[in-house]
Amino acid sequence: MSVYLDHAATTPMRAESLTAYTEALAHIGNPASIHSTGQRAKQRLEESRETIARSLGCDPIEVILTSGGTESINLALKGLFWSRNADGTRPIMLVPGGEHHATIDTVEWLASHDGADVRWLPLDDEGMLQPAALDQALTEAGDACAVVTVIHANNEVGTVQPIVELSRVCARYDVPLHVDAVAAYGHLPIDVADIRTRSGAVAASGLVALSVSAHKIGGPVGVGALYLSRSATVEPLMHGGGQQRDVRSGTQDVAGAIAFAAAAEPAMRELPDETRRLEALRDALIEGVEQTVPDVVVNGSRQNRLPGNAHFSFPGCEGDSLLFLLDMAGVAVSTGSACQAGIPEPSHVLQAMGRDEKEARGALRVSLGRTTTRDDVDAFLTALPGAHRQAHKAGLSDRDVTRR
Ligand SMILES: Cc1ncc(COP(=O)(O)O)c(C=O)c1O
Repeated sequence: MSVYLDHAATTPMRAESLTAYTEALAHIGNPASIHSTGQRAKQRLEESRETIARSLGCDPIEVILTSGGTESINLALKGLFWSRNADGTRPIMLVPGGEHHATIDTVEWLASHDGADVRWLPLDDEGMLQPAALDQALTEAGDACAVVTVIHANNEVGTVQPIVELSRVCARYDVPLHVDAVAAYGHLPIDVADIRTRSGAVAASGLVALSVSAHKIGGPVGVGALYLSRSATVEPLMHGGGQQRDVRSGTQDVAGAIAFAAAAEPAMRELPDETRRLEALRDALIEGVEQTVPDVVVNGSRQNRLPGNAHFSFPGCEGDSLLFLLDMAGVAVSTGSACQAGIPEPSHVLQAMGRDEKEARGALRVSLGRTTTRDDVDAFLTALPGAHRQAHKAGLSDRDVTRR
């Protein structure tokens, strides 16, 4: 059995969610049907939506169920862009560097197909988008900004963004903000009503949309949600039966919603204790790595980072060499960065944080989760010296890598 330290990629399903899912799959009923079998399905669906809404601090009507984080992000970004730029007067999208590819590829698609004017915002050396940088970009955009998007917590380096402050800046310019909270959900408390109130968001300004995914919190893959403020208007991606406020047509996935809710409820209940437990394990892991490899660089913010995230650059090593060597030693970790046609790319997040390509290639992400124990951390620390020695000996290959 290998030691699994890649919870940011996906985390094991919770027993409650698996049981609820399999039981629910055995039930018949389309929630749109009028008969009582359909209405019972609708009731189970809406009870699940209520639980998911509670986990986000919003009203059930504001929860649009989707097929996952990627769809939620596409719906929010394309939907807000199409709606706000319908007459061509607001083509600007403000996007920080270092976002997840679900965001990068969506805005690049909008740029090449629909004339979006994508403006990349700078990150500081910890991976933070400073509110002042957003303020300046919004001043420069004048009245032409369709939407601002930002990742709540970076899935690679774990840096947590100042969401209230960023929402406040957007509210001041009367611009909608979408937040990719896929990596943050279940690890940081999220309360959209509180964020809106504290940031002075009114109507469709400030935080209006937020994406989450069930498989990051112990629910199934293929289920997600978009919080979409009732005051926000989006053009739908899909057309059909008009379900879910006409925003996301298609027969609703009752079993998926039930399984999602069954994971969300315990995840929220356990969050405070789990945060303390994971932070202690993560700090022990970082300390152990620093003792083993004195020239290691810990990436991201020391203070504002996800409880279960540790992200390193190992000078003179390829991140993927370390990954394979650790895998051979029975420890599953990640470089955190994307892979194109089987060839690992240098981390675009580290590059957005101002690091050179060499540093961006020596990156390794170790992400802890609900099932992680002290023994797992020790197993990683035991395997690291050998893997590091070999990866360092192999050094950095001189192959040409595509830069984004
Ligand atoms: C920050 C972030 N956004 C979006 C996604 C995509 O979510 P999904 O896998 O549910 O499509 C991920 C998944 O890794 C993520 O970490």
